[in-house]
Amino acid sequence: MPELTRTELSILRLLRDGEGFHSSAEITGKLELTRAAISKAVARLRERGYGIGSRASVGYRLDQVPDRLYPELVQEGLATRFVGQEVVHFNTTGSTNSEASKLADAGAPEGVLVVAESQTAGRGRLGRSWSSPPNLNFYGSFILRPSLPPVAAAQVTLLTGLCVARTIESVTGYRPRIKWPNDVLAGDLKVCGILTESSSELDRVNWLVIGIGVNLNVEKFPDELKSIATSLRITTGKPVDRAAFARELCTQLEAHYLRFVTEGFAPFRDDWERFARMAGEVVRVGTGTETIEGRSLGLDSDGFLQVETPDGRLVRIVAGDVTLLRGQNRR
Ligand code: BTN
Repeated sequence: MPELTRTELSILRLLRDGEGFHSSAEITGKLELTRAAISKAVARLRERGYGIGSRASVGYRLDQVPDRLYPELVQEGLATRFVGQEVVHFNTTGSTNSEASKLADAGAPEGVLVVAESQTAGRGRLGRSWSSPPNLNFYGSFILRPSLPPVAAAQVTLLTGLCVARTIESVTGYRPRIKWPNDVLAGDLKVCGILTESSSELDRVNWLVIGIGVNLNVEKFPDELKSIATSLRITTGKPVDRAAFARELCTQLEAHYLRFVTEGFAPFRDDWERFARMAGEVVRVGTGTETIEGRSLGLDSDGFLQVETPDGRLVRIVAGDVTLLRGQNRR
């Protein structure tokens, strides 16, 4: 959907001041617009889902804001320097990661957020798909351009998991759990997945696209996901304001990322551990090339998972698929 014009945006801002009806005379005076321009803009806003009441000789009043991830809603009161200062919105697209990668290749600046109300080919890790029903969840991809070596991509992904966990806690009051490297869980069920894609030179990242899917308000899952996924709505019993969620995520991401690029992952390790509680768990980790079983010693200061195998070896793993082997030696 095309973005709002300046006129539409300024009328929306005026109507959102919570002051009830605004007469055409007041709007024309304040915004220096003709009545025809006002009624054209109001028609466009209504098409976009804004409930705008009008009464002859009284004026216009905003009665309802649509439940959409529109830039003007995500950016309302957003105080970041760059993350989310440009939001590219799709009603539907194949994958926000693909859209963001195209923009990054074309030179889009750091901080651009691509969001969609639904995805027809949402991608997960390891070639899996990501269920993306319309108007219920968060599907978004952030473009970042850290001047760091390619290995930093894994650390930014870990950091993003922490940002999502913090966002969930701040928006809903519910404290989720992080599962290394990049799942966020409610109880034992997945509410968020993160897929980082990148373009790099040998020694430097060109761009990262951090794709984040969070199950916010969906209440029904396809059969194959019922036993492994949940949503915040199901978990807390309350609907989540999706635009407010996206805004808080932008805020968290920028604050964490700015510190990360100067100080690395180490300052975040303890906070991450508090959400993950992985230390002491008996785990099986598939890395693609091998399967490692042993006792997790948690993350080291670079974000590697440290696993102590039964024969006493200490293995550092940068990324993989973890299964918690419950009930064995849990400390
Ligand atoms: C996972 O397998 O856990 C990662 C899932 C990542 C899904 C998100 S939804 C927004 C972005 N666009 C995609 O196609 N994938 C990511």
